[in-house]
Amino acid sequence: MAKARTQFVCSHCGSSFAKWAGRCPDCGTWDALEEFRIDKSATQDAHRPAFASPAGGSGVDDASRVQALPITDIGEAENTPRIVTGIGEFDRVLGGGLVPGSAVLLGGDPGIGKSTLMLQAAGRLARQGRPVLYVSAEESAAQIRLRAERLAQHSNVSHELPENLYVLADTNLARIVEQTRKLNPAAVVIDSVQMIYKGDLPAAPGSVTQLRTCTLELVYHAKAAGHALLLVGHVTKSGNLAGPKLLEHMVDAVLAFEGDRYHAHRVVRAVKNRFGNTLEVGLFEMTGTGLAEVTDAGGLLAKEHAPRPGSVVCPVLSGSRCLLVEIQALTATGFLGSAKRKATGLDSNRLAMLIAVLEKRAELRLADQDVFTSSVGGLKIAEPAADLPLALAIAGAHLNRSLPEKTAAVGEIGLGGEVRHVQQLERRLAEAQRLGFSRVLVPKGSKLKVEGLDTHPVDSLDQAIQELQ
Ligand code: TYD
Ligand code: MG
Repeated sequence: MAKARTQFVCSHCGSSFAKWAGRCPDCGTWDALEEFRIDKSATQDAHRPAFASPAGGSGVDDASRVQALPITDIGEAENTPRIVTGIGEFDRVLGGGLVPGSAVLLGGDPGIGKSTLMLQAAGRLARQGRPVLYVSAEESAAQIRLRAERLAQHSNVSHELPENLYVLADTNLARIVEQTRKLNPAAVVIDSVQMIYKGDLPAAPGSVTQLRTCTLELVYHAKAAGHALLLVGHVTKSGNLAGPKLLEHMVDAVLAFEGDRYHAHRVVRAVKNRFGNTLEVGLFEMTGTGLAEVTDAGGLLAKEHAPRPGSVVCPVLSGSRCLLVEIQALTATGFLGSAKRKATGLDSNRLAMLIAVLEKRAELRLADQDVFTSSVGGLKIAEPAADLPLALAIAGAHLNRSLPEKTAAVGEIGLGGEVRHVQQLERRLAEAQRLGFSRVLVPKGSKLKVEGLDTHPVDSLDQAIQELQ
């Protein structure tokens, strides 16, 4: 009989241990270790399809058949054509479409639009000819049809439901794999992976054991059969993708669906992508008939941007394009020594640094002020080029002054309060000009001239603050 080995896996960070503990020794989360039983014969079997040579073979007996190849003899993976979904923004985040045999995990808050995006993508793919399997583990098949009809109403492709889109409302792994074998689809969507269970595992659906085993098997099956696998994952109360580290290494790409469910804009960001750039974002807007692509990045910005104290627009680079993002700040009287500093969509370490620079180099007294900052539109900004606009927003909020109309700012700020160069200034200026800005504060020494745009060089943060009126 096969021996079963027991491990304890942290549901937060994915580390595994031989012994149970109340607190994960790696990430420090309490009560997160769950028992994980590994049946040795089952793991050997589960690993087989993914790494087996085309001739098959299993275990030690067939070891002679498996062969390492010189790297030049290996077929180029780059040449495998990608499966383009036709939803431009989604393809962009994926790095140009789905790679056959790859697995993509899409995570996001409930109600953000994961199922809608997956159904739209599955529908588009099915129209290309090959079957697509949509496994709905949360909603009934009738509900999916209803949603698909609603999405098709205003689709610019076709108002008919795609015949090649197969829906399976099931949560049993064996039945899902069976259907996949029968259909031989181009892509399989699993909505959501947390609900899938394997019958012979003594663990509840959604537990670490089930999640790990089911995902592994689905991924291996996808690799063996060559179809793209799209997994929908939930986000936990703390905002992490449930079992993030647990699933991250098993899939080729992790996409995060972000945005505020009470606002229309949605951002799909690649957290990890083995086949593309993680800087790319896909922009969507939730409409009455599904997710619409926001191809013009100007859509993120409020239509009429009026000057307001504490609000500065910044052209930020995100992958292959430039987006104009409004950065807002608010200061309010707090308590000396325990003043709050909050950053939404911005880096909080950068915020702390900028507040210190504002105190020291621009003589703004912020020690007893609560400072709240955010990037409007739900986009996360990690670029240092947003330093100057952020510092100006804080200073503006504190001094109750704003930049003149149609003025944007860009620049990195050093610890001495100097404004430093940013990369690809030309693209940023072109985008600002395209969206109707007439003046941009830029780091001194930039000799760029853009027609119709007044570039105003600033040397230091102090000098930039003088521009606030
Ligand atoms: P859904 O895709 O079910 O979210 P998730 O799978 O991430 O939980 O989308 C849910 C929200 O989207 C829901 O509140 C209704 C809204 N919605 C629209 O506004 N328009 C639409 O066409 C659809 C299908 C959904
Ligand atoms: Mg859903």
